[in-house]
Amino acid sequence: MQQAPVTSELRDQAQRNRRRKKGHKEIDLSESCSGLNYFVRLLRSERLKEMATDSANGQHQGTTKLPPQPSPLRSSKFCQSNMRILITGGAGFIGSHLVDRLMENEKNEVIVADNYFTGSKENLRKWIGHPRFELIRHDVTEPLLVEVDQIYHLACPASPIFYKYNPVKTIKTNVIGTLNMLGLAKRVGARILLTSTSEVYGDPLIHPQPETYWGNVNPIGVRSCYDEGKRVAETLMFDYHRQHGIEIRIARIFNTYGPRMNIDDGRVVSNFIAQAIRGEALTVQKPGTQTRSFCYVSDMV
Ligand SMILES: NC(=O)c1ccc[n+]([C@@H]2O[C@H](COP(=O)([O-])OP(=O)(O)OC[C@H]3O[C@@H](n4cnc5c(N)ncnc54)[C@H](O)[C@@H]3O)[C@@H](O)[C@H]2O)c1
Repeated sequence: MQQAPVTSELRDQAQRNRRRKKGHKEIDLSESCSGLNYFVRLLRSERLKEMATDSANGQHQGTTKLPPQPSPLRSSKFCQSNMRILITGGAGFIGSHLVDRLMENEKNEVIVADNYFTGSKENLRKWIGHPRFELIRHDVTEPLLVEVDQIYHLACPASPIFYKYNPVKTIKTNVIGTLNMLGLAKRVGARILLTSTSEVYGDPLIHPQPETYWGNVNPIGVRSCYDEGKRVAETLMFDYHRQHGIEIRIARIFNTYGPRMNIDDGRVVSNFIAQAIRGEALTVQKPGTQTRSFCYVSDMV
């Protein structure tokens, strides 16, 4: 026997019958809300027209918003003179050098938020107890509420050994962590800098890479939690800028080296130095034609 096709009309009718049996009263919402529906449709069509015009003009972002205002707390008499700066990942290699640099200015107050996954309090020993310095154990995948003027968002393991150890956590740190920091920047009107990476170019086909190059990337590889995570983080930065007017900076960092680098982080400079100190032969990975752009950490910060 052939079964009749179940049309949406028949389904609706069956639903109405079931409701009636249960004692539900039928109310025709289309009548009572016709004015409202018309208004919503009008708004939608106006917005669609606006979006279409934006798109035709090459402005896909829609209306540009004014930047958010700093929190009123910033103009209180206790906050006026100092610039309050949050550094996520400030207990790590580059972050701790950035702390040193920013603390040189007596008008800066520095707050570090770090979960110590790859960083350590030891890197910040000389600042612990300083009246202009504060250290918070905090994971950026959780929201953070602090009144600051600037955010340097560095939190993320940088070495493949550590970021591949827990790839899901790495991508959460990059995506949720960056969303949390952008949310904070929006709330308090702070400027935010993201430390991105040369890895956003993937396995580049152009050397050296100009910023206009979009990369040759792999979304499913074992390094993608880091590379793609940073690409999403960059996208979020630009979307918050376009949509909410947040003032943003992105630094695409290439191989940085210097004191406080983790000796066993598996990168070429630390490997060479560690092997040289132990009197071992230096390992050069195949094919031996790889290139890197190096930067000393004091030039970076
Ligand atoms: N060192 C480089 O050559 C290099 C190259 C490109 C990009 N970067 C970027 O620069 C930043 C700093 O790199 P680094 O070399 O100092 O690395 P690092 O591993 O020494 O420092 C990262 C810091 O972030 C902290 N951290 C990690 N996950 C966190 C989380 N979920 N919540 C809070 N804190 C967290 C770690 O404990 C550590 O203190 C990173 O964002 C990295 O991606 C570094």
